[in-house]
Amino acid sequence: MPEPAASIPRVPITDLLRDVVFSDQNARVDMYGRLARMHDRYGEVVMQMAGPFKMVNLFGPDANRLVLLDREGIFSAQKPWTAIMGRIFPNGLLLKDGADHKYARRIMHEAFKRPALRSYLDRMGPMVEEALDDWLLEDEISAFRSYKALTLDMAAAIFLGVDLGSETRAMNGVFEDLVAASMSRVRLPIPGLEFQRGLAGREKMKRWLGDLIPKKRAGDGPDMFTRFCHAETEAGERFRDEEIVDHLIFLMMAAHDTTTSTLTSMTYLLAKHPEWQERAREECLAMPHEQLDFDEQAQLTVLGWVMKETLRLYPPLPVIPRVATQAFEFKGYTIPEGSMTVVSPIHTHRMADWWPEPDRFDPGRFSPERAEDQRHTHMWVPFGGGPHHCLGIRFAELQVKTVMHQMLRRCRFSVPDDYVMPVQQAPISKPRDGLPITLEELPRQ
Ligand code: HEM
Repeated sequence: MPEPAASIPRVPITDLLRDVVFSDQNARVDMYGRLARMHDRYGEVVMQMAGPFKMVNLFGPDANRLVLLDREGIFSAQKPWTAIMGRIFPNGLLLKDGADHKYARRIMHEAFKRPALRSYLDRMGPMVEEALDDWLLEDEISAFRSYKALTLDMAAAIFLGVDLGSETRAMNGVFEDLVAASMSRVRLPIPGLEFQRGLAGREKMKRWLGDLIPKKRAGDGPDMFTRFCHAETEAGERFRDEEIVDHLIFLMMAAHDTTTSTLTSMTYLLAKHPEWQERAREECLAMPHEQLDFDEQAQLTVLGWVMKETLRLYPPLPVIPRVATQAFEFKGYTIPEGSMTVVSPIHTHRMADWWPEPDRFDPGRFSPERAEDQRHTHMWVPFGGGPHHCLGIRFAELQVKTVMHQMLRRCRFSVPDDYVMPVQQAPISKPRDGLPITLEELPRQ
């Protein structure tokens, strides 16, 4: 017989207060440490309560499978994500459940098929080359800031299909206000505060994109905006104008912070492990073209393992929230309806029960001979899983590979031997110091 909900291990209110009120900054910085302590002390199911609010942390691959796959259709993504970012990114794909979600995902999927991805890659290559030309004028750059600027420019070109004029640069600034507001702690529309700037920015961005719609509907460009305007499912479903605008704004957010985070962590790990940097470089130099070719990218196997290992150690999204719309059972406990239910890629990815030497950077664990990630379908989940599985996974892979491919061919990058990247793990993993790296230009091949 399952035990009653009352017996679920609970974090005492004193611990909760210490975590949430007194060391909130630390919870953002060391999310893993906080979760690992909770798991080691209380087990696989842990409840935190504050008044009527109940939050349940479920740990491990079985929990990830149950919650992310959501076979019974009882876990809402819309409820927690709307609470987190609904004012700034309403109607984004992740903020939808059930039939509403399926309908929007079906249409959006059209813009992520192979021919579309191929055309996005064509656009990416020259942009990376140009950015590298600039970076290589400096001896040292902030990896995080450089990647952030590049991925934003790429989003403007590939998602929106606009040239990088002064207006687009200004819109990039507005977009950054939106992202900052969605992560802001003080969510009050008070003039001068980050949150209010984000709300105002959203209105500006909506107007700007809305004004472009007639041109995009009439055009046949390869950008995502135009594709959304024409996308139609077999059943004849199409997006309305305001849906297109909302999805584009959400996509830009979903795409650029996560990819920036991945590129930055990957650069750090390759700088700390020069033997892997050399291996990845050799592979890239063996490719016939300086700019990555769509049909050749699958041959970058070492780079693929490095990317996977990076996402294991530094998943951009450390935790994934849902709300249980019904009571459910897990490991003999009954979790009550309405509980905020959280699974944690960042914790699963370092569980010693599943990963040998989990803290060690060891990309070879993803090689076909070792295939350590294949021991459970949900032990490596940086892209989530189930109905909300990241729609941009192939796009992200292309973008990361194309940037790293050119970086590795054109320069050697390093950090001082004693340098340890200070990471803020939540809400999206990033270095607190921007990750300064030294670049040594290599002869062009
Ligand atoms: C390495 C980079 C990325 C990582 C680690 C990542 C991670 C994730 C995760 C964990 C989710 C699921 C969240 C949940 O279930 O609550 C997700 C959803 C999503 N991602 Fe990504 N993402 C990345 C890049 C991208 C890119 C480049 C795009 C777009 C081009 C994108 C678009 C989306 C969308 C639209 C969803 C919502 C899917 C849905 O609700 O059906 N992501 N991503």
